[in-house]
Amino acid sequence: MRTRTLRMLAAGATALALFSGAGAAAAAPGGAPGIDAKDTLARSAPKGLHIGGAAAGGGHHADAEYPDPFTSDEPYRSLLATEFTSLTPENQMKWDHLRPSREEFAFADADDIVNFAEENGQVVRGHTLLWHSQNPAWLEEGDFSDAELRDILHEHITTVVGRYAGRVAHWEVANEIFDESGNLRDTENIWIRELGPSIIADAFRWAHEADPEAVLFFNDYNVEGLNAKADAYYALVQDLLADGVPVGGMGLQSHLGTMYGYDPSLPDNLARFGELGLETAITELDVRMELPDGAEPTPAQVAKQDEFFEFVLTSCLEEASCGSFTLWGASDRYSWVPNTFPGQGSATPWTDDLERKSAYCVLQSTLLSAQPGGAARAQHHPAYADCRAA
Ligand code: G3I
Repeated sequence: MRTRTLRMLAAGATALALFSGAGAAAAAPGGAPGIDAKDTLARSAPKGLHIGGAAAGGGHHADAEYPDPFTSDEPYRSLLATEFTSLTPENQMKWDHLRPSREEFAFADADDIVNFAEENGQVVRGHTLLWHSQNPAWLEEGDFSDAELRDILHEHITTVVGRYAGRVAHWEVANEIFDESGNLRDTENIWIRELGPSIIADAFRWAHEADPEAVLFFNDYNVEGLNAKADAYYALVQDLLADGVPVGGMGLQSHLGTMYGYDPSLPDNLARFGELGLETAITELDVRMELPDGAEPTPAQVAKQDEFFEFVLTSCLEEASCGSFTLWGASDRYSWVPNTFPGQGSATPWTDDLERKSAYCVLQSTLLSAQPGGAARAQHHPAYADCRAA
């Protein structure tokens, strides 16, 4: 685990101020636009912090006009291979993707990602095993007894986690189990509704039996700050740990929007989960903005987006328990945002053409500032000059 001394960012903040209002970055020379192995986020990160990206496929991409991103877009694959040290399958390990029927497992797409990650020296975050959403119709609409449902979940977790044992470092076991008020989603979530809250502990135990080395996470959105939903996780984790349930991590998705602001208590929230002995992670960061009628981001929106990305990354860098920082989308080309929120977009640090945006420069500089040598290193790093010049 990194020490806090490697993460002193005060001096780095001076360097970052220079980026305010910077426009989109130019493509790095040579190779695909914006891709240069020498100055990637992966290379800029301090030791011990994984920089992650979602590997696009399935979900909203399945209905899109373009071919499957992860398996067919070579420049995008190069970006994934070079910018990140961790990959999360955006949809390819969800139930609706893995389980065409009760009898079948469809592992081809998930295998592709795990193999790719191994070839590129990356770790994988498995996403996800117990969720209320993206479950297949045969499961949601099936007529199963409680015992059968329990067997179905047990078989799923044992088979999926077992298949990737030793190859998936982190599993987001339970996803989005609380609502905004901090109540368990006991009507929406089939597992909790039919089998009761104790199924959550069972899911963690089964995952641990299938791969004792994997770190097992809760994961949710709108739990960045100290609020009712985050409090519910904090209380549940304490209860589960007291019962010896192998919970190992808390993931804060961090789907933010420049029109909503961010919660300044994020560092305190990360810290309290860290104090419970958990690994913490930023698991799905993006920062969307309102772009009605296909408008371009204004300088004020860009500056705000830069500030949001910097705040979340700095919060993770300054918290010793925060071991992974994942972006939900490595290009606006494939972002889920315009599909779910028409009139909003530009949520990732890369343009549709895979070019680096201002937010990319901010992330890169913030990472460099956290390395030994800090701000001076960031200011003199070629990437810093390239980004500033753009
Ligand atoms: O299943 C329906 C189908 O019945 C319908 O005909 C079709 C019409 O377009 O939509 C299908 O649902 C789509 C689903 O993927 C299919 O798997 C949704 O429209 C589409 O929005 C959905 O997108 C994925 C979304 O999760 C589903 O919740 C996105 O690709 C994916 O980026 C997004 O990722 C989630 C994380 O897993 C958890 N945290 C939030 C994050 C963003 O929503």
